[in-house]
Formats: sequence, C-alpha cells, structure tokens
Amino acid sequence: MEQLSQKIDELKTEILKESLSDNDSIENFRIKYLGSKGSVKSLMGLMKNIAPEDKKEAGRLLNELKEFTENIYSEAKIRFQELPSSAAEETDYTLPGYKFPEGSRHPISIVSNKIISIFKKLGFSIAEGPEIEDDWHNFTALNLPENHPARDMQDTFYISKNPDWLLRTHTSSVQIREMEKNKLPLRIICPGRVYRNETISARAHCFFNQVEGLYIAEKVSFADLKQTLYFFVKEMFGDDVKVRFRPSYFPFTVPSAEMDISCLICKGEGCAVCKRTGWVEILGCGMVHPNVLENCGIDSSKYSGYAFGMGIERITMLKYQIKDLRLFSENDVRFLNQFKAL
Ligand code: PHE
Repeated sequence: MEQLSQKIDELKTEILKESLSDNDSIENFRIKYLGSKGSVKSLMGLMKNIAPEDKKEAGRLLNELKEFTENIYSEAKIRFQELPSSAAEETDYTLPGYKFPEGSRHPISIVSNKIISIFKKLGFSIAEGPEIEDDWHNFTALNLPENHPARDMQDTFYISKNPDWLLRTHTSSVQIREMEKNKLPLRIICPGRVYRNETISARAHCFFNQVEGLYIAEKVSFADLKQTLYFFVKEMFGDDVKVRFRPSYFPFTVPSAEMDISCLICKGEGCAVCKRTGWVEILGCGMVHPNVLENCGIDSSKYSGYAFGMGIERITMLKYQIKDLRLFSENDVRFLNQFKAL
C-alpha cells in the first residue's frame, strides 16, 4: 500500500512537469497518462496486489489520481483552443466579409404600422378578432339579418362543415366583439385580414387587409368623426391632399358616408387610377346604428359613436403608386426589396 501511494506521488510530480503547449503535446499527454496503456491505467492494475483491508483507501487514491490527470488534460485543451490557431493568424482581415441578405418589411405591414401609429396618437388602442367568424358577429349583430339584401354587398366564403361559420368579410366583426365586453368609453382600431369571394384582378383579391376604427362614448358626433379622419389623412398623405365625404349606405351606420381623397397620382387632374374623376375612395364610415349598440347591450339613448373601415391595400397603392394589387401576395423579392429603406 505504501508502495502504491509513493508511486502515485511520483506520477503526479512527473505529470506536473509536462509542458502542454500545443495540440501534439496535449495528445501525447493523453496517450501517455490516460490512454488504455497509459501510466494511470497501469497503476490501477496494481489493485490486485493490495491487501483486502487496504483496497478501499487504494481505490480512493487511484480515483483521485485519475481525476487529477483528467483535469490537467482538459484545462490544457481549453486553454489551447482559446489561443489563436495558426490558421487564424493567417487570416487576411482586409478581405471583404460575407454578405447576409437583408430582409425588409412588407409594404402592407409598413402602411398598417403607420396607420396604427397615427391613431395611437389620438388615444386609440389595438383590438383583434378571429378570421373565422360566426354569422352573428360578421352580419346579424351589425344590423344585417339573414336574407337582408345588403349581405350581397360582400360575397362570402362560408364553411361547409358549419354554415354558421364564415371567413370574415370585414373587420367590423371586431367592433361587435369589443362592444360586447361592455367597457365604455371604447376607442379602438382593429387591423386584420378579411376575405371575399371576388375574382382576382389588378384591383380586387379574395383576401385583403382592413383597419376598422370605433369610438363609443357619450355625445360623440359626426363632427368628431370628420375631425379624426382629417387628422389621419394629413398624417398619412401630407397637407396638400384634399378630402371629401359622399353620402352612402351601410346597414351598421346611420348616417353613412364614403370618404375620398384627391388623387395622388394626377394631383386631382384626372387619370386612369381615379377614373378621370380626380378623387379616390379610401374608406367607409358613419355613426354606429342604434340597433348595433342595442345588439351589444349598450344603451343607445345614452351612448353614441362612430366607426370607419379602410382597405390597407388601397392606401398602400396610393401612397407608393402601385398599380396592381396582386403584387402584394406574389412574394416577388424584386418588388419587396424596394421597400427596404422604409
Ligand atoms: N365594413 C365596411 C366594409 O368593409 C366598411 C365600414 C366600416 C363602413 C365601418 C362603415 C363603418 O365595406
């Protein structure tokens, strides 16, 4: 036993003298001490000569030696890896680096974010709703009962498994979901994707994006609605753009209007985009119909409000003078790359 512990000490001293300065010396160290024919293994072989009462202590000393040697080996390895390798020393730092392709936001996201930030300045918060809706939220609660002819204004994708479900045709459904929570006053904008059974062309698609706005409080008037939309147009398109309201019809607002802005492409002179009128329609709006308020459990004698809904594709086409709506969903990087700087 004494002999064994002396051998262990001698081996430790020898190990401490090894210089571990490069890959080769570290590998030689491993073979010499830790390999299957290495010194640590061969000392372990002496166990069989140890008296049974000393076996426990001998085992402890040998294990400690093994751990000691392994630690020195792994520390040297780590230390060596951190040093610059000869290959790294030869690196020519003046060579150009690898180019990583840079992504860009989709123009619809850019404009949607811009719309959101404008309305946030006016105290609106964001609300979202599901794209698969039920008939109540998309139509009935919005004063569009079954068989109402105005349902034909929005050609709809119904879900055959459950005829009560459909792909929402507008973000007005989110108005209902938020009003049903009965927390007033309510001032929200709801961005999101909507679906209609349209033939795809340069001006229409079976899916597109809208932003809905809704403000419900006491004594809200049409003047509040107009002021809010004037502010929006100025922030979005600049001071030179003219605005006009035309009377219109939506079952969920009364009175209702459509808002046009002067054509940005021909500056109001008349061109193909504005169909030679000098004006382009950008949204529908109006005062929330009392029936809609009552459908959501809101007292229409106390509260009133306005709502508006705009197509984000339309606004984006006007802002960046894009002539074909299909470009937004084709994912052609030559088109998308042009929005990098924005
Ligand atoms: N939901 C209408 C549409 O998609 C737009 C709208 C929203 C009109 C809110 C009035 C008020 O055509």
